[in-house]
Amino acid sequence: MERKGWQDAIIYQIYLRSFKDSNNDGIGDFKGLISKLDYLSDLGVNAIWVSPHYESPMDDNGYDISNFFEVSKDYGTLNDVKKFINLAHQKDMKVIFDLVLNHTSDEHEWFKAAKNPVHVDHHKYHDYYIWQKPKYDKDGDRQMPTQWRSWFGGGVWEYNEPTDEYYLHIFSKKMPDLNWRNSNMKRDLKDVAKWWINLGVDGFRVDASNHLEKNWDFPEGHPGYEHFSSLPKHHEYLEEFGIEIFHPNNVMAMGEAGGATKEEALKYCGFDNNEFDLLIHFGHVWADCDDSNHLTPGKWSKGNIDLNHIKKSFNRWFRMLNGDGWNLIYWHNHDHPRVISHYGNDSVYHTESGKMLAYSLYFMPGTPIIYQGEEIGMTNVDYKDLNDFRDVEVYTEYKNFLSFGATHEVAMQALRNRSRDNARSPFQWNNDVHSGFSKVTPWMNINENYSQINLKNQINDKNSIFSTYKELIRMRKEDNINDGILEFIDIDNKDTFVYVNETPTAKFLVLSNFYSKKIIFDLNIDIEDYENILYNYKEKELTNKMKLLPYEALVYKKRNRVMK
Ligand code: NOJ
Repeated sequence: MERKGWQDAIIYQIYLRSFKDSNNDGIGDFKGLISKLDYLSDLGVNAIWVSPHYESPMDDNGYDISNFFEVSKDYGTLNDVKKFINLAHQKDMKVIFDLVLNHTSDEHEWFKAAKNPVHVDHHKYHDYYIWQKPKYDKDGDRQMPTQWRSWFGGGVWEYNEPTDEYYLHIFSKKMPDLNWRNSNMKRDLKDVAKWWINLGVDGFRVDASNHLEKNWDFPEGHPGYEHFSSLPKHHEYLEEFGIEIFHPNNVMAMGEAGGATKEEALKYCGFDNNEFDLLIHFGHVWADCDDSNHLTPGKWSKGNIDLNHIKKSFNRWFRMLNGDGWNLIYWHNHDHPRVISHYGNDSVYHTESGKMLAYSLYFMPGTPIIYQGEEIGMTNVDYKDLNDFRDVEVYTEYKNFLSFGATHEVAMQALRNRSRDNARSPFQWNNDVHSGFSKVTPWMNINENYSQINLKNQINDKNSIFSTYKELIRMRKEDNINDGILEFIDIDNKDTFVYVNETPTAKFLVLSNFYSKKIIFDLNIDIEDYENILYNYKEKELTNKMKLLPYEALVYKKRNRVMK
C-alpha cells in the first residue's frame, strides 16, 4: 500500500482561543498563531489541527457555529486564515480544521428559520433539525418527548413555543442537532467542506462523528446514549461524505468516536474504508474514575489509575488496526484534564512524570497528536471560584452534583480535577504578566504556576520536558518508530508499563513507573545488547529484576544484527 503523508505526521492541536493573542483583546487569534509557526516548526511538528474558528456565539467555544463560511471576529479575518494556511504550507506543515457536522448554533440562519413558523424559509429549514411534539402527563402538563440526557449533563430537549415542538440537542441547548436524514442539509454541509478545501485546507477533524444518526422512534431511555450515539447508520453518512468529499479531494479526515469493535474500527479508519484516515478514540482517557462515587459520578470522580486499562487500550487499538489501518496516539485533548495532573504528578515529580508520560507514548507506532502545552508540562488549574470556569458543561454538571447531594466544595473539587477548562487555560509562553499570552487580562485565568512552568524556562534547558518532546519527535522521524510492532510485556501486571516496539532496524524497550512509589518487577525477556538511550533520573543498566523510582522511565535500544 502506498504510504500516505499523514501516517508520518506529527500533529499539534491548537486551542486557538488560548494559544497566542496578537491584538490584545485577551483572546488567542490567527495572527497570534502565525507568530508562533516558527516555534511549531522548530519543535518538529508537521501538521496543525486548529479548533473551530468559525463565527459563533461561543456557547461551547466555537463548536456552536452560526456561520460556517465566516471567521469569528475573535480570531481574525478570512485573510488571516488564508495567510496562516500559506505560511504553514511554506514551512511544510499541513493544516487541519475542525469540521462540525452534528449540530449548529441556535443562532445559525438555518435554525432561526427552522424554529420560526412565519419565517420565509421556515419550510426549507425546519427539517434540517430534529423535532418532536411534546408529551403530556395525566395532569395535562407538558413533558419532554424522552428522558435522554445530553453529553453536557441536562436533558436533550428544548421546547420551542412558536412551533409547539421540542428540538433535540445532545450537547448544549444552544447547539441543536442536525437531521442527517435530510439530503438538502447534507448537500449544504458538503458545500461547507468543499469551500474550505478550496481555500487550501489539507484535512479535517470531524467533530462528534459517531453521533450523526439518531433513533427516530425516540424510545424512552435514561441517559439513552444508545439512541443517539454510534448507531449503525452513521457509518453510511460518513462513507457518503468520504466518497464524495474527502477522498476525491485528497484531504485527510480524522474522526472522533468512543468505543468501537474491530469491525467498526476498520470501517472508520481501515485502509480500505471510505470514511476516515484516522480516528480519535478514547479507550485510555478516563482510566482513573472512582465508580463508587455517586455525588460526582462518572468521569467527574477521580480514583486510582487503572494502568491495565490504559495498556490494554493502546494494545487493542494497535492490534485491531495493525496492517489494516492506521492508528493514532495521543494523551489528551481540549476535552480532558491535563495529562500530567491526570496520569502523572504535577507537583513533586513534575519534570520526571512529564518525561515519563512522553517516553511512554512516543515510542509507540501511530500518528501522534500533541495538545498545546503538553510539551511544557502544563498542569490542571486550581480554579478558586465557580465563576472562574468558562465551559458550558461545568455549569450544568455543577447543578447536577448539588442535586445528587454534593456540597459546593465537593462539586468544585470534581470540576477542578476533571473539567475541560483545565486544558483550555492560556499557553504559558514566559513569565511576563499574563504569561506572554496577551498584554491584557485573558478570557480565562492563566494558571498561577506560569512563572515556573513556561516555555522560556524550558526552551534552552536540555533537561526540560520541552527538550524531551523535541528529541522524541526527532527520534520518531529518524528511527522509523512508526514501522514497528508494539508488544506490551507482562500486560496484566497492574504496576508496570513496559513495552517493546520492534522496528525493522531496532528494538525499543520502554519501562515506566506511573506511581509515586517505587516499583520492583521481574523482566522476563532477553535483555542482551540493549543500550539505555533515555532516562528521566539516571542512566541504568538493564537487568532481569528492575527497580524504578517514582515516575521513573527508561528507554533502551537494541540494534538488529545485520545479516551477512
Ligand atoms: C467534541 C468536541 O471535542 C467538544 O469540545 C465539543 O464540546 C463537542 N464535540 C460538541 O461539539
